[in-house]
Amino acid sequence: MYVCICNAVTDRQIREAVACGCASMRELRARLGVAGRCGKCGPEARQLLGECAGCPLEGRSAAATPEPVTVEPPVSRAGLAGATDALSGP
Ligand code: FES
Repeated sequence: MYVCICNAVTDRQIREAVACGCASMRELRARLGVAGRCGKCGPEARQLLGECAGCPLEGRSAAATPEPVTVEPPVSRAGLAGATDALSGP
């Protein structure tokens, strides 16, 4: 949906800009031109800014963020031999 008609800026563009680090109306104006002409979009842009600030990056769900992986060291042949000895019993 268009938020800023004068500069053809959509709510999605504003959300993306916030996700990329825009944290103020000044930064939104500098980046997208929002509220730089007639100013009628200012209140809605400010509301979007408030809603999106502090949110995790939109479009990047927690499931899409990989967890750190712990890699176990390889088992040596000596270690395997000891394990099979322990399994076979006395
Ligand atoms: S609608 Fe955004 S500056 Fe006019």
